[in-house]
Amino acid sequence: MKNAVAIGLMSLMSMGAWATQTEEMRQEGLSVIKQFGSTLKPSLKAAMQAGGPVAAVAVCANQAPRIAAQLSEQSGWQLRRVSLKPRNTKMAQADEWEIQVLTEFEQRLLAGAAPQSLVAEQPRREEYRLMKGIVVDKVCLQCHGQQLAPEVRQAIVEHYPSDQATGYELGQLRGAFSVRRSL
Ligand code: HEC
Repeated sequence: MKNAVAIGLMSLMSMGAWATQTEEMRQEGLSVIKQFGSTLKPSLKAAMQAGGPVAAVAVCANQAPRIAAQLSEQSGWQLRRVSLKPRNTKMAQADEWEIQVLTEFEQRLLAGAAPQSLVAEQPRREEYRLMKGIVVDKVCLQCHGQQLAPEVRQAIVEHYPSDQATGYELGQLRGAFSVRRSL
């Protein structure tokens, strides 16, 4: 009897520790995503202003993977962006869990959810994973929208021959940040 109580108590305690660890991971993951976004977006904006969308395609193609790699090295988190219709078909291809979450994010958006609320996590003993939705705003349409300028389309196809990431409308889900950390 005493033993059963002790075991119950121990598993309660480890559940508490587990919840705390998950909460810590979530905060850390969200902060890594925030850094990623707040490095990438200004660099995209600056490139657009300096050279227009054609020049910005090249900057995006170079900078996005580089920023992700740099942040991964600094933070110990693996990070990338994923999409159901990837442009970078090497890096942005979603795996099974990511496909499930992206589909769910789309449904939540359609049901009126705020873009900021699109967060999902997979806390496991050996690895913690977190995703945050990315929604199309006006500036994105020049390179992901329905009517691209011919020279922009050409620049994109040169870098990404199998690009699928066009045809989006304002407010649609473009993809998600996806980060993971081994424990
Ligand atoms: C100047 C053109 C351009 C603009 C504007 C642009 N993108 Fe992209 N986007 C790209 C390119 C090029 C890539 C591929 C980058 C890479 O190789 O990682 C990309 C990739 C992405 C990805 C990674 C998934 C994938 O399909 O490869 C997401 C998510 C994304 N863009 C979202 C956005 C959002 C949101 C905006 C608006 C805030 C935006 N983009 C504006 C050119 C652009």
